[in-house]
Amino acid sequence: MTRGGRQILHGIDLTVGRPGGAAEVVGLLGPSGGGKTTLMRAAVGVQARVNGSVRVLGERAGSPRVRGRVGYVTQAPAVYDDLTAGENLEFFGALLGGGRESARREPLGDRVGRALATVGLDGARNQVVRTMSGGQRSRVSLATDLLGDPALLVLDEPTVGLDPVLRRDLWATFHDLAAAGTAILVSSHVMDEADRCDRIALLRRGRLLATGTPEELRERTGTVSVEDAFLALVDGDGGTPGGAP
Ligand SMILES: Nc1ncnc2c1ncn2[C@@H]1O[C@H](COP(=O)(O)OP(=O)(O)OP(=O)(O)O)[C@@H](O)[C@H]1O
Ligand SMILES: [Mg+2]
Repeated sequence: MTRGGRQILHGIDLTVGRPGGAAEVVGLLGPSGGGKTTLMRAAVGVQARVNGSVRVLGERAGSPRVRGRVGYVTQAPAVYDDLTAGENLEFFGALLGGGRESARREPLGDRVGRALATVGLDGARNQVVRTMSGGQRSRVSLATDLLGDPALLVLDEPTVGLDPVLRRDLWATFHDLAAAGTAILVSSHVMDEADRCDRIALLRRGRLLATGTPEELRERTGTVSVEDAFLALVDGDGGTPGGAP
């Protein structure tokens, strides 16, 4: 995968979702510049020059048949400052039209209320986004992506700048969403968030260092934290476990 003429990702092989179709929370972890955003853009289908196959929900990434079923929350919140939280959601909901069948059956106003409640902003529906904190804004942005009842939600560093309580609550939300059938691919460069994932993929310099459950990675490297596991993998990075050259 090239960006600005340079190859950014090398031989990535990563699956989100368990055999049998159960949803899970997969964490994409690694240092800044490692390629997390680029990989997520490829999964959503907005990254140009992808060689190789990126399949999402059984279709080519970004193809019209899956576009409405994949939510993407970018690193910078994409909401209108001069609208209220509710107005933002109504606007994006109207653009979206339907989403999945279940989403189509429920009136937009109700879906807006439910999405705001999911991100803990039920009390802020009528608040203008400009007057919100950074964390609240990013949750409005996340809520817009819940409207379509996505089968896959791709979240690029959604917890950056959030206080510990909000971070914990948001991770609980991710697991609730996964339990309700939405697969989640979430990036972070905060290693302590790794333990909150069902499975993690460690990405460094465009290569997958390793994938597995946090427990598996600790066992494989004989370490007690995922951060230490990551460092051990970096130090022993003669080959490229989990990734082709
Ligand atoms: N538009 C672009 N054109 C050229 N190169 C780019 C572009 N965007 C990113 N890159 C390069 O691609 C590499 C991976 O960047 P990417 O944004 O995917 O990293 P990241 O893991 O998401 O980092 P961060 O944690 O800082 O968000 C970096 O070396 C970066 O310089
Ligand atoms: Mg990024």
